[in-house]
Amino acid sequence: MVLDIEFAVFVIGCVLSIAVECEDDIQYSFAGKGLTEIPQDIPQDVAHIHLNSNSITTIGANAFSNFSELVWLDMNSNKIDVIHDDAFSGLYKLSFLNLRGNRLQEVPKLEGLTLSDLILEQNKIQLKEEDFENATIKFLLINNNQINGNLSAISNLADSLLELYINNNPLGKSSPAELYNLIKSLTKATWINMEYCGITSIPDVRPIPRITFGLIGNPFSCDCRISWTSEVPINYYDGFRCVSQPSDSLYEALCPVRHWMRTCSSLTVRMGQEVFPFMSLCRR
Ligand SMILES: *[C@@H]1O[C@H](CO)[C@@H](O)[C@H](O)[C@H]1NC(C)=O
Ligand SMILES: *[C@@H]1O[C@H](CO)[C@@H](O)[C@H](O)[C@H]1NC(C)=O
Ligand SMILES: *[C@@H]1O[C@H](CO)[C@@H](O)[C@H](O)[C@H]1NC(C)=O
Repeated sequence: MVLDIEFAVFVIGCVLSIAVECEDDIQYSFAGKGLTEIPQDIPQDVAHIHLNSNSITTIGANAFSNFSELVWLDMNSNKIDVIHDDAFSGLYKLSFLNLRGNRLQEVPKLEGLTLSDLILEQNKIQLKEEDFENATIKFLLINNNQINGNLSAISNLADSLLELYINNNPLGKSSPAELYNLIKSLTKATWINMEYCGITSIPDVRPIPRITFGLIGNPFSCDCRISWTSEVPINYYDGFRCVSQPSDSLYEALCPVRHWMRTCSSLTVRMGQEVFPFMSLCRR
């Protein structure tokens, strides 16, 4: 979704300014050709580089630093496991960086970059405290990695981040306090996807009203600690599951909440092996 929007904006931008700029935009595309290294013949004034779906393993020092006009770099679906600290230095116009589906174990150094989209999904990344320092990113897709701590690294993007996709990471190993601090720090965010993260509880973030959360696929312990979730927008209530037996206090806390009753007829609660429709549970 994010990509489509960004792409659309880019296209519109080009249509509007086609006479002045876009006819000159240099594109270099060498996708799906079995490359194992970054080619040497890329023109220096290139704006878009597409090297996706190859077998490149390494991005060396200053690999792209001659490309001062570079806006768009797509290296998704390669075998990259090493990115030199200076690989992206000097790319002041770079806005879109796609490293999806590689073998990265850490976030590359992004110091000085001002990105719209950074796509790191489907790697093996664990965060370090200093990741994302001195970088600006609006849309961060870091889902399907191995993130299980150091969430404060993402707070380094507090001044710029609008949407965070951190779903499908083992975040359940972080403390609820760490999650809370992350959420609270992202003062511009409107959407955080934490689906399928093994989270059993989530702190009350109602004081932070602007964010919509994706929370499906988490094994919530349905006790009073999560009753606040009925009062904030959560996507796909239908997928919201309890794995532990709800306590009496849960009935008291959740069943009277009209919002869930009204909008979520198929909300279910799992008790042991059995799954009950939420409505019938509340009618006991
Ligand atoms: C950058 O360009 C200079 C000459 O303009 C060349 O000598 C150098 O090898 C280039 N660097 C890379 C990494 O391609
Ligand atoms: C957190 O980051 C530090 C380095 O900044 C690292 O040594 C540590 O292993 C990381 N912890 C986790 C849980 O990833
Ligand atoms: C970020 O910038 C500060 C101040 O310029 C510098 O001390 C720090 O080393 C930078 N961090 C990284 C990860 O580059």
